[in-house]
Amino acid sequence: MSKVEILEVAPRDGFQAVKAFIPTETKIALIEELAACGIARLEIGSFVSPKAIAQMADTSDILKRARLPAGVRIQVLVPNAKGLQLALAAGVREVGWVISVSESHNRSNVRRSVDESFREFADAWQGLGAGKPRLRFSLSTCFDCPFEGRIAEDDVVRAVERVIAIAPDVEIAICDTTGRAATDHVGTLFARLLPAYASKRVAFAYHGHDTYGLGVANAIEAYRQGVRVIDGAAGGLGGCPFAPGAAGNTATEDLVFAFEHMGIKTGIALDKLLAVADRIAAVAPDQAGGKVRTVPRRRVLAGFGPATRGIPT
Ligand code: COA
Ligand code: ZN
Repeated sequence: MSKVEILEVAPRDGFQAVKAFIPTETKIALIEELAACGIARLEIGSFVSPKAIAQMADTSDILKRARLPAGVRIQVLVPNAKGLQLALAAGVREVGWVISVSESHNRSNVRRSVDESFREFADAWQGLGAGKPRLRFSLSTCFDCPFEGRIAEDDVVRAVERVIAIAPDVEIAICDTTGRAATDHVGTLFARLLPAYASKRVAFAYHGHDTYGLGVANAIEAYRQGVRVIDGAAGGLGGCPFAPGAAGNTATEDLVFAFEHMGIKTGIALDKLLAVADRIAAVAPDQAGGKVRTVPRRRVLAGFGPATRGIPT
């Protein structure tokens, strides 16, 4: 059976884009509701400087208090060695380290050169010895940088090689941080990366934003190239505060609709997800996105194929 795994990032990428502090109780309730939709993986926050992103300051509190079904995989994002230590101290078993391919976005995001970030990652990761947590490595600005424009594929290839040299067991997320990737660019980059680097130890994921309305098309293209982990944010919130011009993540409900419509299973209950997506969007309505939420629900939920015959408009 064809299937795809969705990593839900609304609690991290989504909420970090919202200026006004979202009460911890609200975050916990929404995270628990997301998990109840059948979502298998959740990025529930980040250990970053509260001066950089105050919205994420309650991540360890959320980790302590959220009640999630057994088997749901939880990860947090970290940008430096201190973040990794805090994540481990909080008992997290999956971390997402982030470095940008482009020099200027990396400096804007984590105030270090790309070389400095890779040196810090190598020291921190190799310093852990045995019993390391599971690693998702997010390579930001793989297609487009808000300051440098289109990114050369060779630069992404070099970054992927650096990651694998330091951490041979890894899931590497190829991120369209600004949402400006053209669909053919997604295709050519993955067509180059997957045959060369995917293995039993190295998996690839796609993380997209929907700034120009290409989020779903780009995710499907990534899938067609062989990627089986796709990031989405329910309600379409999101965006790196250090990437001017980036809009929200591709909405998870749009991804679920598109994949299920093609017969590719996500394991996610779309009716429940839409209800949670509405509540997440209500947290910051002017920043929310996605298309499927705007369609009358009875039409969306009528099913696919012959089941949709005769649905009233
Ligand atoms: N978690 C919590 N606090 C942290 C931290 C972390 N991972 N890393 C640093 N800090 C604290 C330091 O203790 C210090 O606190 P103090 O001023 O009270 O002593 C302060 O933050 C500054 O630390 P410093 O090491 O000088 O960092 P910096 O100012 O050079 O900023 C980063 C570097 C990486 C910490 C910061 O840019 C950051 O958190 N960026 C993340 C951005 C992000 O999340 N982007 C979106 C996701 S892609
Ligand atoms: Zn993002």
